[in-house]
Amino acid sequence: MKLITCGLPYANGKAHIGHLRTYVPADVYVKYLRMLGEDVVFVCGSDCHGTPIVVNAEKEGLEPKGLVDIYHEHFQKVFSEIDIDFDYFGRTDAEYHHHRTQDLVRRLMENGYIYPKEIELAYCPNCNRFLPDRYVEGICPYCGAEARGDECDQGCGRHLEPGEILQPRCKICGSKAVYKKQTHYFFKLTEFKDFLIDFLSNLRGTENALNYAKQWVSAELKDWCITRNLEWGVKFPGEDLVVYVWVDAPIGYISFTEKACEKIGKKWEEIWMAEKKTSEIIHFIGLDIVYHHCIFWPAMLKGSGYSLPDAIVASGMVKVEGKTFSKTRGYVVWLEDDYLASNLNTDFLRYYLVNYTSHQKDLNFSWEIFGDKVNNELIANLGNFLYRTTYFVWKNIGDGEKAELNGFATPETIKMIEETINKIKSSLEVWEFKALSDAIMELSSYGNNTFQHSKPWELIKSDLDSAKKVLADCLQIAKALVILCYPILPKTMRRLSKVFGFDVERSKIEDSLKVEDFTIYKPVIPFQKIEKEKIEELEKIMMERIKKAISEERGETKPDEEEIKEEIKEGGTMSETKDVSSSEKNVVSFEEFKKLDLRIGKIIKAEKIEKSKKLMRLEIDIGDEVRQVVAGIAEEYKAEELIGKLVPVLVNMKPAKLMGVESRGMILAVDVNGKPILLHPDKDVKAGSIIR
Ligand code: 2FM
Ligand code: ZN
Repeated sequence: MKLITCGLPYANGKAHIGHLRTYVPADVYVKYLRMLGEDVVFVCGSDCHGTPIVVNAEKEGLEPKGLVDIYHEHFQKVFSEIDIDFDYFGRTDAEYHHHRTQDLVRRLMENGYIYPKEIELAYCPNCNRFLPDRYVEGICPYCGAEARGDECDQGCGRHLEPGEILQPRCKICGSKAVYKKQTHYFFKLTEFKDFLIDFLSNLRGTENALNYAKQWVSAELKDWCITRNLEWGVKFPGEDLVVYVWVDAPIGYISFTEKACEKIGKKWEEIWMAEKKTSEIIHFIGLDIVYHHCIFWPAMLKGSGYSLPDAIVASGMVKVEGKTFSKTRGYVVWLEDDYLASNLNTDFLRYYLVNYTSHQKDLNFSWEIFGDKVNNELIANLGNFLYRTTYFVWKNIGDGEKAELNGFATPETIKMIEETINKIKSSLEVWEFKALSDAIMELSSYGNNTFQHSKPWELIKSDLDSAKKVLADCLQIAKALVILCYPILPKTMRRLSKVFGFDVERSKIEDSLKVEDFTIYKPVIPFQKIEKEKIEELEKIMMERIKKAISEERGETKPDEEEIKEEIKEGGTMSETKDVSSSEKNVVSFEEFKKLDLRIGKIIKAEKIEKSKKLMRLEIDIGDEVRQVVAGIAEEYKAEELIGKLVPVLVNMKPAKLMGVESRGMILAVDVNGKPILLHPDKDVKAGSIIR
């Protein structure tokens, strides 16, 4: 058995595309595993506690439970419309979850891993209360960025312990906070250092998660304050405190598994109790919560006798229209208000999310690219093949209701399908959903070529038997595609499987290799093309939102259209530069530095630009693509000696034309009296490695 979980969304706001970056690939993974005959349990649920909920509820004049009720229902509805099918979607404010959390905390206490300690906590003298987590804002002691009480969310991403934040201010009234003493409870995370080093060396998962976690564990481990001064949350046994939300949230993976197992008749203990474990546990998460899942969570599980995860799969982050995803700055796609309201097929979004880039890399969502990918790949290739094949058979062989054809598939076709299945299996092992979906699209191209080259429309006039063979061969590929695409495009493939007279939801991957006779019912058009106007309309909605956010940020009542347009084009907002005083002009904040997409690139081609003394045209592999960059290094370096060299590249440099040649990026070099000296990494690293 395998348990697959997804990071729990906070039930404090609407679902957006950032959420789907994790949930869609996880759902695709689960659907494939099931088609491969695996016994899978798939759970997630609403993260209902902590200051993310309390602060938002207060803002909206609701009780925390009232806020959670609204968004819990919202998430369930959105997930079901996008065909993300959890076996159980729970909520952490439910009694069963409180019970499981208290059990785990008690076990930690009994095992001696929790101790009390008096600490200094941020306190607002004006509001007369302690300020846990998001109630306090200030400066990150590690990187100097603006941070929240428990997390440096805009800077280095570190978890912050109570009392660590510098220059604390009350989030509610803005007053300067003071520090006040109080006794809280700590988890002895430091005692787990050796265990964690060993655990991480065996843990499977994506490299992004594992590498970060290994660095952190050997660098900085501190005991962890696990109680908070809040009313809303899971009570800490025997005290007027609740447990920190990051203690109880992951325990949702256990409590929701219990509920799922109750529903589907399985034993949750075989998943979660260390001494009974027979099942694998795989957590799908976003890159921003690796620390919690690779460090805190395994230590808590180990200390309490629950089972440990086997793999952590972290998805890269999301950008919107090339900019850092930001709800406050308008760079967001809301799933209900934007996507579902547009009535676009939800499978389009699923395809985009798995096929845009590798699971570990950052995904850019742009309406224009979305429209192109859907129309030019999904519809032009897959939709076209599935429709032309089924329609041709139904129209030319059938009786107006259905068409019958004896099964026939050439060994090449079966081999091609087998190869596709093998690629799907090997990609699943390393959670590479792009490679997997590319393999399927290749099978579809193969189908289109088979149809095109054998010209059934001519053959049918001269040699009906041969035409039928060709068509049956194409139908074999089409049927295989319906099965193999189902996990990615469930809505569409459910409809299409009816054309073949079967139900794809009950199919196994191997069924795509079975050569059977075909009965084809009235074909359906797989996908509706997205009209240009639709994309323009959706782009406009987003631009309006960004404009509104910028003008709100500047405190304007009426936006200055021209200025804002310019700003959107350039990226960034006026206020970012406006606030900088002259003495700070040469200081770059971590936030500003983070905007630079700096990577190690590998030069794969180099040639001197004719008519220029200095310029060299380079083709550089930057991981997810090959970029053309023009660099002024031709006086110092020969083309041949550059091939294979690793160099730092500023990838998001504004494109420019130099001597008529487009340059999309800039390589960094040392300037010695005006002459460039190239820089190379100390060790051999992969093309595309991020520079921080
Ligand atoms: O960062 C978040 O959105 C958290 N709600 C994720 C919790 S995941 C898990 F640990 F439950
Ligand atoms: Zn920081």
